[in-house]
Amino acid sequence: MDQQQRFEPQEQNTFFEDGRAMRQPVEGTVSRGNLRHDKVYYQGINEDSSFVEEIPVELTKSFLYRGKDRYEVYCTPCHGISGDGQGIIMTGNYGFVPAPSFHIDRLRNQSNGYLYSVIANGIRTMPSYAQQIPVKDRWAIVGYLRALQKSQNATEEEIRQYDVNLTSMQEEFKNQQAAAAAAEAKAAEGASDEVSVERGKAIAEENVCGSCHSLDGSKIIGPTWKGLYGREVELEDGSTVTADEEYLKESITNPSAKVVKGFPPSMVPYDQLSESEIGSLVAYIKSLNDAAE
Ligand code: HEC
Ligand code: HEC
Repeated sequence: MDQQQRFEPQEQNTFFEDGRAMRQPVEGTVSRGNLRHDKVYYQGINEDSSFVEEIPVELTKSFLYRGKDRYEVYCTPCHGISGDGQGIIMTGNYGFVPAPSFHIDRLRNQSNGYLYSVIANGIRTMPSYAQQIPVKDRWAIVGYLRALQKSQNATEEEIRQYDVNLTSMQEEFKNQQAAAAAAEAKAAEGASDEVSVERGKAIAEENVCGSCHSLDGSKIIGPTWKGLYGREVELEDGSTVTADEEYLKESITNPSAKVVKGFPPSMVPYDQLSESEIGSLVAYIKSLNDAAE
């Protein structure tokens, strides 16, 4: 049954006058259950294709709880229970492109239709959840995302409306901040200026460079690191450059300066890394050549 003759989507078929294998429904066909003309509801867009601002379903408490339930099933593994992008898959070093926090301004200011579209169509490296999540549940999740965003960005005035002890919360927050600052200071004390292959390998793992760069020659999202050092690299603008230390450093801190031919410029600059961290990454990439020899 797997091997029978068939037409692929969009394939040509000379049997029909218009040459298309994919046929329109016969004129006068009455749709049963598949009429999806309501773009606002089914696609989250207006007639002019802009994203809708409002959620086109009445927001009741039970609807939001439905959203919470579905969010926790489908989104928490990557986005985390509070939407901070620290889901178990992201913190577990499985090589995923990091998911952003929902509590950044860019995502707080997105329209509801945009969030709906991310669930329905996926975005960049996030797959679509259209197969798993029916339309109404997608809107419920959007509603719950808004609740999550609100929960992480409430004003003092809003919090005062609830029966909470604000002073003790603030105290607790201050203690947490102090503990975090102390831990950071301690880490900075132990931070080294050491440049080494081992350190470079660890930094590459922490930053999941391997989700885009393979070590075995295969092409993922970015070029492989196998044999990269010393290679003649063809660039998007037609020129070539030798992958020496300078080039590798620049590729890490400012990847769009020289874009490798055949790859989208999808790497973000890692300019927050220190001199010795970048040096270590370069040493690590260089060491891959020695290992191969
Ligand atoms: C398998 C992991 C995974 C799951 C599950 C997942 N996401 Fe994502 N999501 C990502 C990643 C990775 C990105 C960042 C994609 C990129 O920028 O390449 C992302 C990005 C997003 C964004 C931000 C888009 C932007 O403009 O940057 C939203 C909103 C989002 N996801 C919502 C959801 C919702 C809602 C669910 C549950 C229905 C969900 N995601 C499930 C991995 C996941
Ligand atoms: C989201 C995917 C992605 C991640 C994560 C990523 N890169 Fe890249 N990288 C790319 C792409 C795509 C290119 C090629 C396009 C370009 O030159 O900008 C590239 C290019 C490079 C190059 C030049 C490669 C060549 O063949 O000339 C180096 C070196 C590099 N990246 C290092 C790193 C390091 C180190 C990290 C982790 C700290 C990292 N990258 C993380 C996508 C990524």
